[in-house]
Amino acid sequence: RPASCTLVIFGASGDLTARKLIPALFHLFCNGSLPQKMNIVGVARSKMTTEDFRAHAREGLEEHASGDLFRWPELAARLFYHPLEYGRLSDYLALERTLRELDEKSGTEGNRIFYLATPPSVYAVVAEQLGAVGLAEETEGSFSRIVVEKPFGRDLASARELDARMHTAFAEHQIFRIDHYLAKEMVQNILMFRFANSVFEPLWNRRYIASITCASAESLGVGHRAGYYEQAGVLRDMFQNHMMQLLALSAIEPPSLFAANRVRDEKVKLYRSLRPFDGNTLWKDLSLGQYASGKISGRAVPAYRQERGIAPDSMIPTFAMIRAYVDNWRWQGVPFYIMSGKRLPKKLTRIVIQFRDVPHSMFRNVEQGEMVPNRLVLDLAPDNGISLRFQAKMPGSKLCFRPVVMHYSFDEDADGVLLDAYAKVFLDCMLGDQLLFWRQDSVELCWGWLTPILELCEECTDLQKHLEMYPAGSWGPESCREYMECLL
Ligand code: BG6
Repeated sequence: RPASCTLVIFGASGDLTARKLIPALFHLFCNGSLPQKMNIVGVARSKMTTEDFRAHAREGLEEHASGDLFRWPELAARLFYHPLEYGRLSDYLALERTLRELDEKSGTEGNRIFYLATPPSVYAVVAEQLGAVGLAEETEGSFSRIVVEKPFGRDLASARELDARMHTAFAEHQIFRIDHYLAKEMVQNILMFRFANSVFEPLWNRRYIASITCASAESLGVGHRAGYYEQAGVLRDMFQNHMMQLLALSAIEPPSLFAANRVRDEKVKLYRSLRPFDGNTLWKDLSLGQYASGKISGRAVPAYRQERGIAPDSMIPTFAMIRAYVDNWRWQGVPFYIMSGKRLPKKLTRIVIQFRDVPHSMFRNVEQGEMVPNRLVLDLAPDNGISLRFQAKMPGSKLCFRPVVMHYSFDEDADGVLLDAYAKVFLDCMLGDQLLFWRQDSVELCWGWLTPILELCEECTDLQKHLEMYPAGSWGPESCREYMECLL
């Protein structure tokens, strides 16, 4: 079990806390993974009492968690609430006193995790104030960690500024930058699959692989997050984080050890090898789209521009497909297609490894049926599994072949023990393992690489010409549709 600690959740009255954080903590509590001595202190601007906070947390659980709540009173007894203005120093001094008292009462040994479930605009202020009252200090035998979720800035300059301000109080090993994709079971499985088997890795290079696609399709639209999405668009929302991680995990060199910094070093090398975009030919490697009205599962849904809170002439992309190249020995010439979009027909997150054609078909004189190259699919959502497509002979007297699929279902294997991504994030943070978290050098490299595209979206005067409208419920812009359909 992790060491005793106090978890301080900033933004405790908000949606994320009720929807994701409390259910994840309750899950960990029920399966015995939380430290025996642990308190959870909710912090927010709302004037609430501890009793109100416990009631708010319970409501969240009733709405968002499945299963029996009979053990809830045991966890509820460890919940406390502390109102605080994010920028007011005296409130942090009071928080420091509360935490000290709780440590004394419960034996939590001065270990603290500060989880920022707040708007990103207050990350730097909270970190600085925690530093100012000494809450970021680690003594021998005790830790202080801060957890933040994307976006880490909105471009390279703001990411650097945020980081510099966080570093005034916290050192890099104390900062945990969440990417919930990294905590997905099948995303973790990518490295196992590649490097714990000997049969795939020898083929994992430009000689045998024709292309790699990392795709995340969603049927959901922008929902109630118009304000955020109008600033972010698909590139900041999905590419600068989740998609870049999928790309890295599919392409990195084998780390010498499965340890946070070894793996993160390899990702940095990979990001450094990404071929920079050429401003003059960028549109050859990029497609952008925005959903128009349409139908998803038979239900009519509005266009992006008709959603509540969205500008009627918004030029924000809700779909993007980028063709990237990795300029190193292993991947020279192999295109990586990275795509993500909203309001596509269904949820589908997968990595597709497309192998090359056989160099010479000895069956060309008798060829009957479809000869298609091998394809390996790593399914990350909604199904978790791995499929390999290969050619097999059709049963019967004629020599005739067809593609067949060999499938492994992680879901069936897991038999209900899948841990939610936030539960994993909490566990690893309590254990101090940063493997599932972003390191700042990678954050900056990815911002840097995407900058020409982001600038283009903001500055291009004829974006109108390039931003393709696609009906909700279709597989994206016309120019990408054929490719998208091949992914299925
Ligand atoms: C979030 C994005 O980070 O990831 C959302 O902000 C997106 O826009 C979500 O819907 C997708 O996550 P998942 O786990 O459902 O693929």
